[in-house]
Amino acid sequence: MHLDRPPGRGRGGVGEGVLTVAARQADGLAAPGLAADPALLLGDAGLSRHEGALVDGGVTLTSVAREFGTPAYVYNADVIRRQFRELDEALAGVPHRICFAVKANSNLGVLRVLRDLGAGADIVSEGEMARALAAGFPGDRIVFSGVGKREDELRAAIGAGIGHVNVESMAELELLAHLAAGATAPVPVGIRVNPDVTAETHPYISTGKRGIKFGIPLDQVRPAAAVIRAHPGLELVALAMHIGSQLTDTQPFAEGAARLVDLVHAVRADGTTTLREFDVGGGLGIRYHEEIAISPRDFAAALVPLVEPTGLTLYLEPGRFLVGACGVLLTRVLFRKHSGGKEFVIVDAGMNDLERPSRYQAYHAIIPVQQRPGVPFVADVVGPVCETGDFFALDRDLAPVAPGDLVAVLCAGAYGFVMASNYNTRPLPPEVIIDGGRAWLSRPRQALASLYSSERVTSEER
Ligand code: LLP
Repeated sequence: MHLDRPPGRGRGGVGEGVLTVAARQADGLAAPGLAADPALLLGDAGLSRHEGALVDGGVTLTSVAREFGTPAYVYNADVIRRQFRELDEALAGVPHRICFAVKANSNLGVLRVLRDLGAGADIVSEGEMARALAAGFPGDRIVFSGVGKREDELRAAIGAGIGHVNVESMAELELLAHLAAGATAPVPVGIRVNPDVTAETHPYISTGKRGIKFGIPLDQVRPAAAVIRAHPGLELVALAMHIGSQLTDTQPFAEGAARLVDLVHAVRADGTTTLREFDVGGGLGIRYHEEIAISPRDFAAALVPLVEPTGLTLYLEPGRFLVGACGVLLTRVLFRKHSGGKEFVIVDAGMNDLERPSRYQAYHAIIPVQQRPGVPFVADVVGPVCETGDFFALDRDLAPVAPGDLVAVLCAGAYGFVMASNYNTRPLPPEVIIDGGRAWLSRPRQALASLYSSERVTSEER
């Protein structure tokens, strides 16, 4: 995939593909005369149509917009439950723990749904740990990953008694050994291995290849395990990997896991007796467009035969798979405009609210909340932010929409709100959860004053 092409044109962003007949089949994207099959994307998202209106978990998105305004993130709790159970059931034959990657969506209401399902949490910062604890995850169900943990973050993790810390370098291991000297019980450690496998995805989120910053290289794993064995304050409980995100093929998972299995044998032969967990990371892709996602059943079939003979508990760290499809970004069309031979649909959400299209040229389906008669057309869907890169879709086939209409940007539950910013001094959008046929506000729209009220105008001001 090439990053040097004009953004959004051609193949290769995360979840993006060439516009094909199949791609146009999503609701509202279908050109006349093509067999439209809205069922796939709508079904994934827990959406349906009733008299032309989009219904999300029994609630019309029009009523959600009326109550909470736009732009707004809306999450369907039953979709999260469906995704979790599908994965959990596929792995029912082996001891396993699904640790939700909090970075994908750290909303407390979403975290609570996952905690109630029995999930653990995978975190990469003290902030995510605080959120996981606030949502009620027990410390020992939390895994701390990340290539650049600070000393105070590691101290806090030890203090919270978290499940294990995945170390990503020999230097981090030394620091952890130093901190563990003062701990009351041995600190459980995982070694995140860089298994040197190529995972086909956007290069920004491919993380298991030699020469990128993540993980401990294969040849340093046994020395790292030796350091841990020699230190009474540390206990090696896990070997881990995370090879990339939005993966649609089981092959790299199996390849990476096979290398981890070899290492399990090697460190055991060297004298390690404390291993409990085999952590294959996250990365399960979802359907944004025309991708065929890995089914949990195929995932289990690829991994279980490798992991089961080790006797270790299979750990997973999925983020996108659990929450990607559950979310829509609800936004309103402000204007339509024709300029330079092109048609533009200008909406009230911007790249600050959902960054994925502009950052990765990622494809997100965009559909009208209330269908209206008219002719489908081709347009760029853009936001109000002062950058040409502020777009949600380029040259997209769209169902008829007019100023004032609501549109839903699909698959926005993962890496949506969590990557939002205040750029252009725009307040963060609200987060609404639909559960049990009712929409409730988990996080209100950020108040304008809070954007600047903690700043001082001059050094003299108190
Ligand atoms: N575990 C570790 C150590 C990770 O770094 C990640 C994601 C996950 C688990 C969860 O991966 P998932 O199951 O969600 O694929 N912002 C990008 C995605 C970045 C993923 C980073 N690491 C996007 O919008 O596509």
